[in-house]
Amino acid sequence: MAPLHGVTVSRFRNLFFRHFGGIDEVMAPFLPVVDAPNVRARQWKDILPQNNENLKVVPQLMGNDPVQFVNTLHILADMGFSAANWNIGCPMQQIVRKRRGCGLMPHPDLVEKVVEAVCARTTARFSIKMRLGLKSPQEGLELLRRLESYPLDFIVIHPRLGVQQYEGLPDWDAFDTLLAATSHEVVYSGDVWSVADYQRLQQRYPAIRQWMLGRGLLRNPFLAEQIKSLDEAVDKQRFSDFYADLLSTWHASGLTEKGILNSLKELWHYFAVFCQLPEDELQLLLREENLTAFEQKSRDAINRIAAK
Ligand SMILES: Cc1cc2nc3c(=O)[nH]c(=O)nc-3n(C[C@H](O)[C@H](O)[C@H](O)COP(=O)(O)O)c2cc1C
Repeated sequence: MAPLHGVTVSRFRNLFFRHFGGIDEVMAPFLPVVDAPNVRARQWKDILPQNNENLKVVPQLMGNDPVQFVNTLHILADMGFSAANWNIGCPMQQIVRKRRGCGLMPHPDLVEKVVEAVCARTTARFSIKMRLGLKSPQEGLELLRRLESYPLDFIVIHPRLGVQQYEGLPDWDAFDTLLAATSHEVVYSGDVWSVADYQRLQQRYPAIRQWMLGRGLLRNPFLAEQIKSLDEAVDKQRFSDFYADLLSTWHASGLTEKGILNSLKELWHYFAVFCQLPEDELQLLLREENLTAFEQKSRDAINRIAAK
């Protein structure tokens, strides 16, 4: 499961894995690196084992300072994590401007300093998640050349440029070039919406063994199961049961009504596709400010597909 900041957080993941299968491992959405070696901040809540029942979670970090990385990896090691991932692919303007996320891709020296420190001063299995580049795939190529000699666990590549955000299509030809330029294990991430998409990409990249599913899995929570079984059946009742469980668990967990409403709205950008909800009806749903009414309308949308 791909990290989707604000979406695939532990309170969602746990519910998801109670009802759907096919996923072997989760990469958690990014957390900032920290200064002090003994920090026990609230931010770790999302990845704590007690908040991630029966799930194998790889924490992901955001930052650009070698010392902070080493400190944070020591904290994670104390918490029992032997692996961590570094996000150098996030395209959000406020992050890029601070030379974090994808803002690091044009600066291979900065990336190398962090990787060098981590490899020299920690025992973490360290991996990287990147794009083709911020503005050009040449940046990704140069970076991979620099990373070649370090013992990285794997490199996840989303085949878009940072400036593309999530627009347009992935550039698979540029991905071919990057793939050929590295001997690190590459994990593929991007635009797998169906079993057919997976099969097409798997035929194009037979050497890739690990596939990361993000938005496709939210638009169709059965996608990972379907890919593994090559059976495209969906069980609409199971989706309905999942949603009922999600609502009752979130209500019982002490989340505020506003918090629940905002999280549900985020999810419905994706669930609307599964429920074949027309765009105008989705917009009406997203404008709903009353949680009870939102829940009723969203349940109705699910019941309508269950009846089809
Ligand atoms: C709302 C949203 C939040 C995301 N948050 C993260 C994140 O925290 N860390 C990260 O590495 N990638 C993040 N991504 C990128 C995804 O992990 C993934 O690489 C990208 O969406 C392409 O894969 P997909 O088409 O399967 O979704 C995010 C993407 C979206 C749409």
